[in-house]
Amino acid sequence: MAQKGTGVRYLLFGALLTVAACASPQGAAPVAEGEKLFNDPQFAGSTNDSSCSSCHPGGKGLENAASNPQLLTVINTCITGPLGGQAIAEDSEEMLALKGYIESLGGNE
Ligand code: HEC
Repeated sequence: MAQKGTGVRYLLFGALLTVAACASPQGAAPVAEGEKLFNDPQFAGSTNDSSCSSCHPGGKGLENAASNPQLLTVINTCITGPLGGQAIAEDSEEMLALKGYIESLGGNE
């Protein structure tokens, strides 16, 4: 009886840990990660020492970009064009992080 109870408790604890571990990458973390990439002059193999913030300092001008239906395409256009880098996959962690960061800028015109 006592043994069974302990087992259930461990099981619950494990489930909680799993939920916590899965929840964080979709929470605040990607925004911070995205901001880091946004300011990183090496991001996506940038060949000219520029970062996104060279042209969009602190995300300036991108406050409404989250509603752009072409957002992911435009990000890659800015990577392959101005940065001289390599396009990143639209479902990559980097893309999700950048998208999260850009969404966090949003709202005010
Ligand atoms: C050499 C300058 C330059 C660099 C570097 C640059 N961009 Fe851009 N970006 C532009 C210009 C110019 C536009 C089009 C005008 C505008 O919307 O501001 C633009 C547009 C965008 C848009 C669309 C804005 C909207 O309102 O729909 C997004 C999103 C964007 N850039 C993200 C990025 C990201 C992410 C990076 C880094 C990977 C980056 N840009 C690097 C110049 C740059």
